[in-house]
Amino acid sequence: MKEVLYKAALESGKIIKDYFEKKFEISSKDVISNLVTEVDKKSESKIIEIIKENYPDHSILSEEIGAMESESEVKWIIDPIDGTINYAHSIPLCCVSIGVEVNNGIVLGVVYNPISGEFFFAEKGKGAYLNDKKIAVSKEDNLKKSLIVTGFPYNTSGNPHKPVQVFAEFVNGDIPVRRLGSAALDLCWTACGRFDGFWEYNLNPWDVAAGYLIMTESGGQVTDFEGMDFSVYKKEILATNGSIHHQMLDVIQKVKRNG
Ligand code: IPD
Ligand code: CA
Ligand code: CA
Repeated sequence: MKEVLYKAALESGKIIKDYFEKKFEISSKDVISNLVTEVDKKSESKIIEIIKENYPDHSILSEEIGAMESESEVKWIIDPIDGTINYAHSIPLCCVSIGVEVNNGIVLGVVYNPISGEFFFAEKGKGAYLNDKKIAVSKEDNLKKSLIVTGFPYNTSGNPHKPVQVFAEFVNGDIPVRRLGSAALDLCWTACGRFDGFWEYNLNPWDVAAGYLIMTESGGQVTDFEGMDFSVYKKEILATNGSIHHQMLDVIQKVKRNG
């Protein structure tokens, strides 16, 4: 499956790169700022075509087309472009993200930014790689010295996890926080030690399937906001180098309790 996964990511990457900074159709989904482009759809069709050619019976869960369920224990979880708003604005922080789930566990994952040429890959039990180099999370154990990253749901008002307040709590604590606009890259950049931690509420399985495996194979820790085991079907994600996990969890929980 690894070869097919590589092929699907590389072919989709070609499409994403070809259209980058060009004109293409853009429309809104449920919320006016939640965009889908013609290129998301072209990338998705190419990935699904390659999977179906090789594994016609596998299940697929892909952002734009939805679920194509089968009896198979293998499910391909696809985000044809993560960071679509960046992409639509010619910002080169975008990628294709594909995770392969077998019997409810992610076993393979690729996050590929064809503009920068960075190709992140992980296989369960075999480590994670950026291009050909093995990667690992950072060793920082002091939240005050950390660089962390987050993203915001399209609709933040009335959100029970108070994403803006949590953001403010970190920033008011003089901790530098970034917001890249691609959850898959946020995870991979934490996995390779650029960031020390990442949190976000309201992501979908296609945003995190590959990045989650890349994080854990890099030695990182991934939980929900209660510190419980993560699943790609959960809405909350806290992914860190492990050493600052509890410090970040404390801030998230404190804001939830006290507002
Ligand atoms: C989005 C990005 C963004 C996150 C949003 C996602 P999309 O995915 O991952 O960083 O904050 O919640 O929906 O729409 O670009 O595939
Ligand atoms: Ca996404
Ligand atoms: Ca997407």
